[in-house]
Amino acid sequence: MKKAVKILSIVLALAAVITLFAACGKKEAETKTLTFGTNAEFPPFEFVASNGVIDNYDGIDMAIAKQVAEENGMQAKIENLEFDSLIVAVQNGQIDAAIAGMTIKPERLESVDFSIPYYKATQVMIVKEGSTITKAEDMADKKIVVIQGYTGESCVKDMGYKYEAFKKGSEAILELVNGKCDVVVIDSATAKNYVADNPGLKIVEDNNAFEGEEYAIAVKKGNTELLNKINATLEKMLADGTIEKFGAQYAG
Ligand code: ARG
Repeated sequence: MKKAVKILSIVLALAAVITLFAACGKKEAETKTLTFGTNAEFPPFEFVASNGVIDNYDGIDMAIAKQVAEENGMQAKIENLEFDSLIVAVQNGQIDAAIAGMTIKPERLESVDFSIPYYKATQVMIVKEGSTITKAEDMADKKIVVIQGYTGESCVKDMGYKYEAFKKGSEAILELVNGKCDVVVIDSATAKNYVADNPGLKIVEDNNAFEGEEYAIAVKKGNTELLNKINATLEKMLADGTIEKFGAQYAG
């Protein structure tokens, strides 16, 4: 009899422990985090701010990431990485998705899957006011600066021009402001941002030389479950004007 009581209490204790574990597991699933990788050096899409929408990260992409996570019952977390390590981070699962004003490109499509596009952009040239550069060809004999791994770098490379690549847009702009280069090639909205912040600079467009680009969110190849969730939210945000609103808010 004594033995039976002992066995019963052990069984009951085990059952309690198992129930507890199951409950904890469930709770974790309810508040799942969705980890986005970005490179917060790309205003107005992502930049570090003392009071951002996600921790100290702010911008159009950060506002989008937050909403994508929340509409799917998750909490957005940001990992701030170098731009050219984002694709690998998606591939090896360090991050669930990359949102970084990332242009859909054939080479990138070999490594990751992209969501539907959410923003249109193009490369432009930033020069000093009074510059003789009026079209892409005029860069041929000029000192060109691009940002490492950005589409601007591959554009200039494809044109066959020599260039220097910097790690950050802000460093490239400083180089231009200080007269150490003649032109910076970078995405249009980010260029506008830098020009607004730095008197004496202007934007030169050349739509014959630079093709239109589209930004999208990257996920691991084959992760259709997450991709479908992201696409559903993006579709909604595009249709109801939310993304346009974020654009006006941050780029305005
Ligand atoms: N659109 C360009 C590209 O895909 C530049 C993106 C840079 N983004 C960033 N968060 N630093 O290459």
